[in-house]
Amino acid sequence: MKEYKVVIIVGSLRKGSYNKKLANELIKLAHPQIQFFFAEIGKLPLYNQDDDEQPSKVVLDFKQQIADADGVIFVTAEYNRSIPGVLKNALDQGSRPYGKNVWAQKPAGVIGTSPGAMGSALSQQHLRNVLTFLDMPILNQPEAFIQWNENIIDKQGNLLERTKVFLQKWLDAYSHFLKKQLN
Ligand SMILES: Cc1cc2nc3c(=O)[nH]c(=O)nc-3n(C[C@H](O)[C@H](O)[C@H](O)COP(=O)(O)O)c2cc1C
Repeated sequence: MKEYKVVIIVGSLRKGSYNKKLANELIKLAHPQIQFFFAEIGKLPLYNQDDDEQPSKVVLDFKQQIADADGVIFVTAEYNRSIPGVLKNALDQGSRPYGKNVWAQKPAGVIGTSPGAMGSALSQQHLRNVLTFLDMPILNQPEAFIQWNENIIDKQGNLLERTKVFLQKWLDAYSHFLKKQLN
């Protein structure tokens, strides 16, 4: 049976990041035929178009990780009602030089969490705009705007059972979407 490689990109560098925790929980769920790996974005230099002719090794390695993946899941925080700069930088790095956009045609899933009432919804909406321009097919439903509070996690910070059920539904939908896009 075919195995699919899916890269996870977390839009937060914070050590105790809720989004990183969410990503780690996601990969603990049942996900037949999918092999997950993380791509780190915190060491990427700030994108500078002058570097297009000679990108650094860290940028080339990052692009290769994306190129090797069948799909991409973005688990993102919301900063000032938008995408954290570090994530936008990673998207820009992967999109250039012109004509060498590594994101194109990689089926994308977008999910995220925030303690704020909108659960990263506005960040995800902005992210979708960018991914569309980068030519990524995106899972539209179910949406996953997760407010990080006592309805989601227990006092010890572990996900509640109903949160896991919701995440499993989301992951099943992404997995179905990924396979449909690639076949
Ligand atoms: C610069 C900055 C801007 C933020 N803006 C928002 C915001 O627009 N909406 C929101 O819900 N939370 C906002 N927050 C709070 C974050 O959701 C919170 O810090 C969250 O823990 C970040 O995700 P993480 O835990 O994965 O790092 C902001 C935090 C920072 C540091």
